Amino acid sequence: MNDLKIKQLFDYDSWTYTYLLWDEGTKNSIIIDPVFEQSDRDLSVIKKLGLNLLYIFETHVHADHITGASNLKEKTRAKICYGSKTGVDGADIFFEDGYKLNLDNHEIFVIHTPGHTSGCVCYYVKGYIFTGDTLFIEGTGRTDFQEGSSNDIYDSVKNKIFKYPDETIVYPCHNYKGFLSSTIGYEKKFNPNVGNNISKKEFLENERKKNRPYPKKFDTAVPANLKCGKT
Ligand SMILES: [Fe+2]
Repeated sequence: MNDLKIKQLFDYDSWTYTYLLWDEGTKNSIIIDPVFEQSDRDLSVIKKLGLNLLYIFETHVHADHITGASNLKEKTRAKICYGSKTGVDGADIFFEDGYKLNLDNHEIFVIHTPGHTSGCVCYYVKGYIFTGDTLFIEGTGRTDFQEGSSNDIYDSVKNKIFKYPDETIVYPCHNYKGFLSSTIGYEKKFNPNVGNNISKKEFLENERKKNRPYPKKFDTAVPANLKCGKT
């Protein structure tokens, strides 16, 4: 069986991680959460590595950047994929909870994880989990817009993400402190929001007290992303 390769890419304006996954033998590939402004960079990496981009996965409808999904689809014919609860227009595939998609021999599992937004999903493949804005490294996504729910994000993390083995590598959609990845075991132990020692009652109280600024790109990003990044 061929190796699954993963490359982490970064957008320094929105602090977003994009991930490129591919099978080393066939070069078939998936990109997760591309950023509109980084489309040329992403396409040049894809070309340099000789990859066939088959799918564009989104973890959710982003509020802080416009997705590069439509842009990349135009250039590669890859299929745009969203969770089935996102309500976007123009995606090619909508993933139900528990859906399994194969990239050659690599099984990718879709996990619905409502909370940051009602349509959020995470993707698990071979010891790696791509957690979007549901679980961050020592944090969790905000829950105060896009039908967010503190109650739901707590349940999603505790009952769905933390069920994976401790050694599972966590790849989030953002980090603001320079951390690249984490593990489930580390987050259970050290995540100040949802770690093992935090009850749901405490989490809900802490979330209620948070006063977060309005995302500066919200009014342009959300409408564009509801159309897969068509601007
Ligand atoms: Fe987000």
